[in-house]
Amino acid sequence: MNRQLEIKLLEELLGLKQQNALFLDDQPTTNRVSHYIDVERFERESHQVFARHPQIVAHVSELAEPNSFLRVTAQGLPLLLLRGDDGALRVFLNVCRHRGTRLVDGEAGCRKRFSCPYHGWTWNSRGEFVAAPHFEDGFPGTDPAELGLKTVPAIERHGFIWLLPTSDRGATEAEFFAAIDDDLAWVGIDRLAVHQSERQVRRCNWKMLVEGGLEAYHFRVAHRKTIAKRFNDNLSSYHALGPHLRSILPRSSILALEEQPKESWDIREHANVLYTLFPKSMLLVQSDHVIWISVEPEAPNLSHVRMVTLIPRESGQPQEYWDKNHELTVMTLNEDFDLAESIQSGLASGANDSLRFGRYEGALSVFNDNVQNCLS
Ligand code: FES
Ligand SMILES: [Fe+2]
Repeated sequence: MNRQLEIKLLEELLGLKQQNALFLDDQPTTNRVSHYIDVERFERESHQVFARHPQIVAHVSELAEPNSFLRVTAQGLPLLLLRGDDGALRVFLNVCRHRGTRLVDGEAGCRKRFSCPYHGWTWNSRGEFVAAPHFEDGFPGTDPAELGLKTVPAIERHGFIWLLPTSDRGATEAEFFAAIDDDLAWVGIDRLAVHQSERQVRRCNWKMLVEGGLEAYHFRVAHRKTIAKRFNDNLSSYHALGPHLRSILPRSSILALEEQPKESWDIREHANVLYTLFPKSMLLVQSDHVIWISVEPEAPNLSHVRMVTLIPRESGQPQEYWDKNHELTVMTLNEDFDLAESIQSGLASGANDSLRFGRYEGALSVFNDNVQNCLS
């Protein structure tokens, strides 16, 4: 995001605030309830949406040291992320090449060797097969060079580790990033480090978790105990960046800009910027830190979610300051996620054939259109 755009986005919201107006689409829209509960629909989303787009699986600070590892599940795959002793990042399936046991059980750590807990086959931090007990007697003619851990294509970019599409019919890497490269460079995620993170399992469709952040209509009611006072009632804007979305949620302080020369306007001082990275990663950019929210769908009504607070490497703030920030984030997101579960629990009741998106909830409509457009 360049300075011109930053000022333009603030002008748009300040103008609306001054006129006591809202950011409105032309028409309200609807989305079918079946899109959140159908098993067949979920299968198509898995193959035609999730598997066809790059996906963030870790922040680089989680694998900073040589020989560090991280175990994650993404795209339904059990993954082992390794920073080799050569400094290179590689992603493997966390599956033993003998009889398929899960190779690593720990969540994260630092190790030069990875031995399978079943019969002890062993690999190094580059994923190369090292040795196995009684290997020559048991497996004559087997070439050890072919027993490396199975690799999964991944790249490091903008401070994150991204899994590349596991289906070759997806968006190309170039197309996907062209739409968000400027904004992600502006956020400067590579200058941050993980402070704290939390994993949860939620009984709701993955889209509910994404939709929760896409409008400010609910702030005054749903977040009355947490963040409502810091924001304007039902005021937010959104802009599509290819398949991604940039939503701006201005804070109550935005009117202070009236008194300031435009050259000094700073969007992070007066608004939260939320990036929805298609389809299911979210970056909530706040004044001095960033929240990364990652959703891993398991079933139409079951999703895993990870909330990560990323802070500057040299922040000058004490630990307690960031702990409090993380705590408020989790508390606020829990309000959203509890409501998502509440919605999901009544979807199959027949009360609604479709859910309604008001003119100020247009980002939900665009997000769902983008999902729909991927499905054949
Ligand atoms: S299954 Fe891993 S060593 Fe046998
Ligand atoms: Fe919310």
